[in-house]
Amino acid sequence: MDEYMKGNRDLWNEITPIHVASYFYDVEGFKHGRSSMLYPIELEEMGNVSGKSLLHLQCHFGMDTLSWARLGTKVTGVDFSDKSIELARSLSEELGIVADFICSNIYDLPENLKGTFDIVYTSDGVLCWLPDLKRWAEIISHFLKSGGFFYILEGHPFSRVFDDSPDATELKVKYSYFHTPEPSKGKRYLSAWESEGDCAVPDAVVTHGSYEWTHSLGDIINALISSGLKIDFLHEFPMIFYKCLSFMEQEDDGRWRLKGDKIPLIFSLKASKI
Ligand SMILES: C[S@@+](CC[C@H](N)C(=O)[O-])C[C@H]1O[C@@H](n2cnc3c(N)ncnc32)[C@H](O)[C@@H]1O
Repeated sequence: MDEYMKGNRDLWNEITPIHVASYFYDVEGFKHGRSSMLYPIELEEMGNVSGKSLLHLQCHFGMDTLSWARLGTKVTGVDFSDKSIELARSLSEELGIVADFICSNIYDLPENLKGTFDIVYTSDGVLCWLPDLKRWAEIISHFLKSGGFFYILEGHPFSRVFDDSPDATELKVKYSYFHTPEPSKGKRYLSAWESEGDCAVPDAVVTHGSYEWTHSLGDIINALISSGLKIDFLHEFPMIFYKCLSFMEQEDDGRWRLKGDKIPLIFSLKASKI
């Protein structure tokens, strides 16, 4: 693991217990019957997953993974944070939900996991931690059965170019839309966490920095096409599930939007292996 990956793993080991205790994840509610952490968009777009095998990349401490298992899917969750995987396993055991959890950097996964899956799934804050999307897409293709599909629901890369400081009052371009091999070193997320807190816990204090990469929508789609997958759809939506810009407004359904719905905030994509 290189310096950047180690740094990010330490960061996620630090964030994991904060998320577990947060209102955003509501682990207690999940334990006491709230059936799912999954969003209506992904439930609808993924269709009936019952009886299928599903590989969940960057599963964090397994709430979404276990939610898919509750819907009858045979799940394997992967994350490089040992704290996250430890918690995912204990949640699975406590709730009696069968699931496999593997602690691995996804770039090393072919050495740590055998077999292929009907579905490879990932969501919600995953791509900025990955330096190389071409290799990421090859790994997705490697683990998909023929006839299987990949699905992602993720923050839209265009929504990440704007000033995300707590005192921002309007859309002002601050960051580049385009990828650079060198990561941005923690300024964006650390300053947000220090002043306003992590997206899940507004007043959390996080001491580790982050290393993050930007990937344009074109980078994401072309990486998947290059790995041999066929794009089935790409959908863009003007709302998001947490407040990522300070001047967003929350709707009655709990989603966050910008006045006028003028830019995309999340996207979903499905791609098939023929
Ligand atoms: C924002 S979280 C994903 C959230 C998850 N979808 C959820 O709702 O719980 C990002 C996750 O990616 C993991 N991660 C980041 N880089 C990784 C890598 N190279 N290999 C495996 N996991 C990684 C982190 O440990 C973290 O759990």
